[in-house]
Amino acid sequence: MSGADHVSATTKRLDVYAVRPPRGMPALCAHALDAFEETQVRHARRAWSMKSAQELRSAAIFSELVRLAIDCGLAGEISKALASCAEDEMIHAELCRLVAKVFGAEPPVVDMKPVEDRLLGHREPWRRFLALLLVEVAIGETISTSLFRAGAKSSAEPLTRHALTMILRDEAQHARIGWEVLEVLRPIWTVDDRRFLDGELRAQLGAIEQSTAVPSLRLLASAAPFDPTLGRLGLLSPERRVEAFYEALEGKVLPALDALGLAGSASWAARYTRPA
Ligand SMILES: [Fe+2]
Ligand SMILES: [Fe+2]
Repeated sequence: MSGADHVSATTKRLDVYAVRPPRGMPALCAHALDAFEETQVRHARRAWSMKSAQELRSAAIFSELVRLAIDCGLAGEISKALASCAEDEMIHAELCRLVAKVFGAEPPVVDMKPVEDRLLGHREPWRRFLALLLVEVAIGETISTSLFRAGAKSSAEPLTRHALTMILRDEAQHARIGWEVLEVLRPIWTVDDRRFLDGELRAQLGAIEQSTAVPSLRLLASAAPFDPTLGRLGLLSPERRVEAFYEALEGKVLPALDALGLAGSASWAARYTRPA
């Protein structure tokens, strides 16, 4: 399938959801956008479209984890928990798409290339399962929870706050599931598996910082102005985004990794050092 076919197929799927929303889709509350200027609404619209696309990529990762769990002999509570996360992410994608639509957006174009690249990283099912569970679920959802919490806290526009609060509740649950499943699997991963996970941490922690915090750090360094009213529409200022990222990383992720017997703090310290 070509890249263009891929995009149009994904857009078609979004159109189908508009006709038949997923089960569990929460009702939207009324918005109060009249208090905002068009440029402010445009920023929020773009952010909701990007969130919708990100939620679909997250759904694809959880779906792959369900498949891998079954492949690895974990068809039971673990695969059921991951399947419920995949369903949540589909609902989040639809919720974000509907909020973006209220703000005036067209259905988002979803780029699945980052997911495809991530899945190509490890071919062996058990290793791929462990890597995705560790990085995308436990670490990724913990950071995502912190960012959603900050956005929900600053938001004042009722539809924005309503949608962010609903997603936040699920993201916190996904993060919990990630750490709990790692704890359950810890007795059966081998010394080689642990070394593999430490290598994954060393490779991915820097990449996560680069994609999540560094753009905001650059904005801070350039002293680019941020319209404080955007906070009421759930958009994070660079300061708040950086703060939420490092709070989650240093306050939750690294201690949890160390408690699992993984080289969390050491990998973070060596994230920009080439392996010997
Ligand atoms: Fe989500
Ligand atoms: Fe999530």
